[in-house]
Amino acid sequence: MSQPSSAQEQQFLGGPPEVFEEVGREQLAALLQFGLAPSSTVLDIGCGCLRGGRWIIPLLEAGHYCGIEPNAEMLAYGLKSIVDPEIIRIKQPRFDHNDRFDFSVFGTKFTHLIARSVWTHADKPQIGAMLDGVAQCGAPHAVLLASFRPARWYKRDDYKGVGWVGRSHESDQSGMICHSFRWIAGACAQRGLRASRVDRPIVNGQPWIAVQRA
Ligand SMILES: C[S@@+](CC[C@H](N)C(=O)[O-])C[C@H]1O[C@@H](n2cnc3c(N)ncnc32)[C@H](O)[C@@H]1O
Repeated sequence: MSQPSSAQEQQFLGGPPEVFEEVGREQLAALLQFGLAPSSTVLDIGCGCLRGGRWIIPLLEAGHYCGIEPNAEMLAYGLKSIVDPEIIRIKQPRFDHNDRFDFSVFGTKFTHLIARSVWTHADKPQIGAMLDGVAQCGAPHAVLLASFRPARWYKRDDYKGVGWVGRSHESDQSGMICHSFRWIAGACAQRGLRASRVDRPIVNGQPWIAVQRA
């Protein structure tokens, strides 16, 4: 599938249909930049309808892709219509629907974690929970790649509210938020992690942050 059809546009696909393929491919490209290999173990946080998973799953050994997605309907759509069923049969991806950012459910130490268009909706305690998960369930040289929308001091748009903003298992309302890189770097440092901006072309207005052990 290259671009979603009009029927698929009825379904929330994780972002604008016109960049569906580009944003998905970008997720694989960013992971490859950080050493993704068939033996890597990947956690896709908020994997949605597998916009990125459809590119990542085929490259990995069986059982090495795990996805967390509380919106069970969205994931079911992806498994039915976005990823080739034969790939699912061979690669045996694993999924969980918890919305607590509990990464321990898979019993795996992850070499790569990815959160595409997730920090653009998550509040600061939720980002903190994801960073705790990296510290607990990341392999020694793990990397988390998270896309975000940088807050600008002159706009005072660093999100300080409480709760997820945008579509989810609990809401049909769209919305996006910004976080300051300075805050993210501080939250990482508190957990023995280091945040750095990733040198890649910015797709759909969201640069990547790489989080690794300090
Ligand atoms: C904008 S979509 C991006 C989906 C996917 N990463 C992609 O690139 O297509 C954000 C996703 O985060 C999911 N989400 C919402 N709350 C979550 C939570 N507490 N834990 C994990 N994922 C959550 C939403 O259901 C949605 O699928």
